[in-house]
Amino acid sequence: MINSLSEFKVTSAKALENPDGFWSEVASEFHWKSPWKQTLDYDFSKPEVKWFVGGKLNITENCLDRHLATQPNKTAILFEPNDPTETAQHITYKELHKRVCQTANMLMANGAKKGDRICIYMPMVPELAIAVLACARIGAIHSVVFAGFSATALAARINDASCSMLLTADGGFRGAKTIALKEIADDALTSCSTVNCCLVLQRTQQEVQWNSIDKWWHEELEKIDDNCPAEVMDSEDPLFILYTSGSTGKPKGMVHTCGGYMVYTAYTFKNVFQCQPNDVYWCTADIGWITGHSYIVYGPLANGATTVMFEGVPSYPAFDRFWEVCAKHNITHFYTAPTAIRALEKHPTSLVEKHDLSSLKVLGSVGEPINAEAWHWYDKHVGKHNCPIVDTWWQTETGGILISSLAGVTPQKPTFATLPMPGVQTVLLNNEGDEIEGEGEGILAIKHPWPSIARTIWGDHERYKNVYFSAYPGYYFPGDGALRDAEGNFRITGRVDDVVIVSGHNLGTAPIENAINEHPNVVESAVVGFPHDVKGNALHAFAIVRSRADDNETLKNELRALVAKTIGPIAKPDRIQVVSGLPKTRSGKIMRRILRKLAAGEYDQLGDVSTLLNPEVVEEIKQNK
Ligand code: WT7
Repeated sequence: MINSLSEFKVTSAKALENPDGFWSEVASEFHWKSPWKQTLDYDFSKPEVKWFVGGKLNITENCLDRHLATQPNKTAILFEPNDPTETAQHITYKELHKRVCQTANMLMANGAKKGDRICIYMPMVPELAIAVLACARIGAIHSVVFAGFSATALAARINDASCSMLLTADGGFRGAKTIALKEIADDALTSCSTVNCCLVLQRTQQEVQWNSIDKWWHEELEKIDDNCPAEVMDSEDPLFILYTSGSTGKPKGMVHTCGGYMVYTAYTFKNVFQCQPNDVYWCTADIGWITGHSYIVYGPLANGATTVMFEGVPSYPAFDRFWEVCAKHNITHFYTAPTAIRALEKHPTSLVEKHDLSSLKVLGSVGEPINAEAWHWYDKHVGKHNCPIVDTWWQTETGGILISSLAGVTPQKPTFATLPMPGVQTVLLNNEGDEIEGEGEGILAIKHPWPSIARTIWGDHERYKNVYFSAYPGYYFPGDGALRDAEGNFRITGRVDDVVIVSGHNLGTAPIENAINEHPNVVESAVVGFPHDVKGNALHAFAIVRSRADDNETLKNELRALVAKTIGPIAKPDRIQVVSGLPKTRSGKIMRRILRKLAAGEYDQLGDVSTLLNPEVVEEIKQNK
């Protein structure tokens, strides 16, 4: 663990000078079944990246078996249920190991084998983490789909990866609501021909329909023993697929591989959060997102930490649930999203103050730029000016944190993610693709691979190349803009593409437009983000309709319902505006830049609209807002 600023500087310099030597040393701390022959083999022009080439391992041995001798009775997963009156569960490393092995055997008994894709559509209960690890144990590729996604979105992801198995639950608790997961899954499976087994966990005990491929999880487990040797995996074998949205309607299945992902998530967890042996670390994300994969499951467990899984929401039963849980479990590390902070900031500070938060040592932020107000509120009311805040910049594609301060070790700067991790070569580019030196603002890019970079998009390597490696040849292009101060600290300024981050969720505007266009009365639509004080950004949809009715509300509700059905409730636009045209260039391209300004109400910053094909629609949009 890096313990001082000087050590950080030395380590970063060493990693820059000799990346292979540096990562090879980091990787040697893990348990490999056989060593790698070459540390790194890459070519960004293909693109191809391979780390720890020829090495053999199983990530679950590093997350579980390795800790059995030293700390079998330490809590690995601390589960806090949605309902605060339901007892929390402390699952030790020994117990977790046993349950993962048993679940892995259950998967195999039902036909799963190495290389199969298994879709996991589950609530935030321990069995979700166990299922993920069980897949990894047998070398099946997990594809976790966030339990807030709709049947259509779930089906698209199952089909894209040709999953042979689905793991789900009868339902999930979420605040005062229950989500009928099995019903949604049933709906999805009507259009998925590759799934031949569906294992159903009992969580809510709600009534479910039963199909021929369905099996109860608890009944299957009863038949199974818990001896399950870990499958030997190649360093570059896929570990999982996780979907993220992009600038076309089709989600991108980012593929992460075993060796590099393990090394990088474990290394960054250790150094960014600086967890000590008796600490209790809580990341409030859902395992359905990359944050949950890397920093609830793999990173913490590879370090033998205690990781909290929270099933509920920050507002249930009241807006002090986060703080109540922090006090209840003596949380030392609390990692959440700016959107949650902004939502909680709206409530009286007495809700924070009534709980004893003295156990807290480190705070974290992830998912979008944290604005100054939220940063200071977090620092003052939660951290009591006594906890470093790590603002961690990264992506589904990067697998792990690329830019962040190290808690209490390197300097923090409000609203800045600060410095890249050792071994991460960040640069700023201008529009021509030239590197900007020193202070400046531009496009963020990365010059050299790090171990957990996604290797491809499942089934579409060409798209992987086009999206991430073609705009600026020789660099990985993440799609974010950034500015850099004189000390080299980065502040992420936001997306430079058609992705909008809403409440920390990465939403491509294209799939939302496609959903809206499904409506028989819609001719064309455009969706853009606009600043929102809680969500960070919210969505504004412009729709051209065939026939205008007096009652726009019905149409708007139908459009929202369509989006919820096709993607999920998180993608519903806050505003829908019926327009007679969209501002277009003479070549017919929608001028999203202008729509963004219109949605934000920044009418004085529209720039020259006279070159548009149809400048009159701009005026109309302003008038009818
Ligand atoms: C996009 C990636 C990283 C896991 C959760 C989101 C934005 C993420 C920060 C941050 C500013 C951030 C970027 C990035 N983002 N963290 N600390 N500061 N922006 O993963 O869904 O793949 O989204 O989230 O725009 O590209 P994701």
